[in-house]
Amino acid sequence: MNPAVTARAHTNIALVKYWGKADTDLIIPQTSSLSLTLDQFYTDTTVQFDDHLTADEIRVNDHLLSATAGQKVHKFLNLVREQTQRTSFARVTSVNHVPTAAGLASSASAFAALAGAASRAAGLNLDRTALSRLARRGSGSATRSIFGGFVEWQAGHDDASSFAKPLEEDVNWPIAMVALVLDAHRKKISSRQGMQTSVTTSPYYSAWKDVVAHDLVAIKPAILARDFITTGEILEANAMRMHALTLSSQPPYSYFNGDTLAAMQTVQQLRDTGIACYYTLDAGPNVKVFCQVADLPVITEHFAQQFGAQNVIVAHPGPGIQFN
Ligand code: ADP
Ligand code: DP6
Ligand code: CO
Repeated sequence: MNPAVTARAHTNIALVKYWGKADTDLIIPQTSSLSLTLDQFYTDTTVQFDDHLTADEIRVNDHLLSATAGQKVHKFLNLVREQTQRTSFARVTSVNHVPTAAGLASSASAFAALAGAASRAAGLNLDRTALSRLARRGSGSATRSIFGGFVEWQAGHDDASSFAKPLEEDVNWPIAMVALVLDAHRKKISSRQGMQTSVTTSPYYSAWKDVVAHDLVAIKPAILARDFITTGEILEANAMRMHALTLSSQPPYSYFNGDTLAAMQTVQQLRDTGIACYYTLDAGPNVKVFCQVADLPVITEHFAQQFGAQNVIVAHPGPGIQFN
């Protein structure tokens, strides 16, 4: 019997975002990107290859996926089988401790955990660079979730050169990311579909590539120097410029809802009263607020009143992939 292997990977929030592919099959991005892995949101995935199975059997959050819904996972397992000459199908059991497909990066933790569990269950012992490259084939943002803390995905130009590297794994900087869960439903436009529309139709796409190049050069020394304000200003502007690509696409779309705009206004008001904090959001309406630990009581109280305490989740820098 082949062993069952379980891996846990945490989600990450992009501070300088990935929004577009140069190669849609290999998932080579148009630009590099940089993120912070978060301790509060993660996926646990167990994989076991079994000669008795007649198809891959994929369960997510206790639901058996249909062949269509499980297609991405099945294709991913084929990549692992190719690397090992293994032919047997696998049993995959995955639990998201993060809302699925709501812009809280479930695809990042999901495919990072799957890369770890599936490769080990198939008998491969990949180092973290190889795991990062493998995770990338499932979802671009998963490339970064192999590592903890601040992580850069270096775009590269082919399968061998496109992987993530930690900028700083053990973050002893008293910062937090307050996640506001404003709508946990599945988004209508997946990240995959949304970014492709932006690449092919937004007239601002080439300007976006310049923005990312500039922001990456600026944010890395700001992080390493613990320059909270510069880091915050860059991540907030970068998020808004990414979302400008959605509004400028044809057809135009947006991941914002009314609460998203209200939360952004609250951040602005807090800043006006002297509390430094900055917003960012990925492909979904749920805002994350970058702040300093000392300001957490005031900030969380504000948002708890506005959106309900159960929708305010305080996250800190989280670890890289773990096995047990
Ligand atoms: P998100 O903002 O949550 O990352 P995406 O549109 O990028 O949203 O990705 C959502 C997709 O990721 C889901 O539709 C599903 O295909 C995949 N996914 C999410 N969680 C899991 C999981 N635990 N196992 C396998 N696939 C998953
Ligand atoms: C806005 O990694 O979810 O969160 O590669 O198609 O699976 P696929 O997309 P995904 O896109 C993430 C987009 C983002 C920004 C980021 O995480 O860098
Ligand atoms: Co995603």
